[in-house]
Amino acid sequence: MNPLPSRVTRDGLPERVTIYEVGPRDGLQNESATVPVEVKAEFVRRLLAAGLPVVEATSFVHPRWVPQLADAAELMTSLVDELGDTARDLPVLVPNERGLDRALELGMRHVAIFGSATETFAQRNLNRGLDEQFAMFEPTVRRARDAGLDVRAYVSMCFGDPWEGEVPVAQVVDVGRLLFDLGASQLSLGDTIGVGTAGHVRALVDGFLAAGMRTDQLAMHFHDTYGQALANAYAALECGITTFDASAGGLGGCPYAHSATGNLATEDLVWMLTGLGIEHGVDLDALVATSVWVAGELGRPSPSAVVRALGSGTAESPA
Ligand code: HMG
Ligand code: MG
Repeated sequence: MNPLPSRVTRDGLPERVTIYEVGPRDGLQNESATVPVEVKAEFVRRLLAAGLPVVEATSFVHPRWVPQLADAAELMTSLVDELGDTARDLPVLVPNERGLDRALELGMRHVAIFGSATETFAQRNLNRGLDEQFAMFEPTVRRARDAGLDVRAYVSMCFGDPWEGEVPVAQVVDVGRLLFDLGASQLSLGDTIGVGTAGHVRALVDGFLAAGMRTDQLAMHFHDTYGQALANAYAALECGITTFDASAGGLGGCPYAHSATGNLATEDLVWMLTGLGIEHGVDLDALVATSVWVAGELGRPSPSAVVRALGSGTAESPA
């Protein structure tokens, strides 16, 4: 039997959180090897079976821009075949109306747009300027909402940008508010290149609260480039944030920001939440076994400390 952390609660933290799993999308979008669609489908199924309440499955972006997710329609069709209509509740990224059309054709009910807090990343990731991105997102969100879909908005480069350096909190808050006000139900604050630290997390959350947003409208999306993701998640918990994006096994990165490495590993987050007595609903053993299996499929070990510590005890681990 695998060990678990001792459960020692702390006053002032949320009682439960929602883990928004991004491994199949953020994790796999950056893989150099082609991952077969059957492996992606099994990855999503296993994450759901491990109790992850939300699993972002793929992106309806231009297949030339992200070839790894060019099979988005095939993946979603196969998941609907296997899981039934509930697969249409898995969120997918859509950058524009063309992406939305592709998601609507399959009956998807949750889409996410993804904006940039900086000019350079907007150009590199979306082929649009900082201000131009809103003209692309506005009709996308309006049509999605008219069709009854739920929309999440991401904002990237919230803590720093590899080309522009520091990104002022006020700039992130302005862009984030504009994206949210297009009609999103949640705004996910991306530390795309993982440079954020705990005090910065509080300053950013405080900036959004001062701009009239509530903690339940915010999610945190940490990449772990500098090993700060878990400390940043704890700082966000102290601010009252209850939605955390994470990626099984710490997979991840962004093909348009090479200094972006994997996301906060879901297992590392689950370990911390379990120790703090915060409900999350995830079966850690099933999740670790999934990450060990996917690491085998990708041909390299998981960067997650918890997967490394527990993974050798799973049936999936190599002898
Ligand atoms: P563009 O080249 O400017 O597109 O790309 P366009 O609007 O000029 O259209 C050109 C052609 O592409 C047209 O075809 C369109 O139909 C087609 P044509 O008429 O020439 O035959 N097209 C599409 N085809 C399929 N699906 C589409 C689509 N859109 C246009 N959706 C675009 C603009 C936004 C499409 C492109 O820049 C793109 O796909 N970018 C996506 C980049 C990406 O996926 N990055 C990773 C995700 S973001 C991330 O990881 C950060 C995050 O994790 C948070 C964080 O960590 O901070 C979310
Ligand atoms: Mg990301």
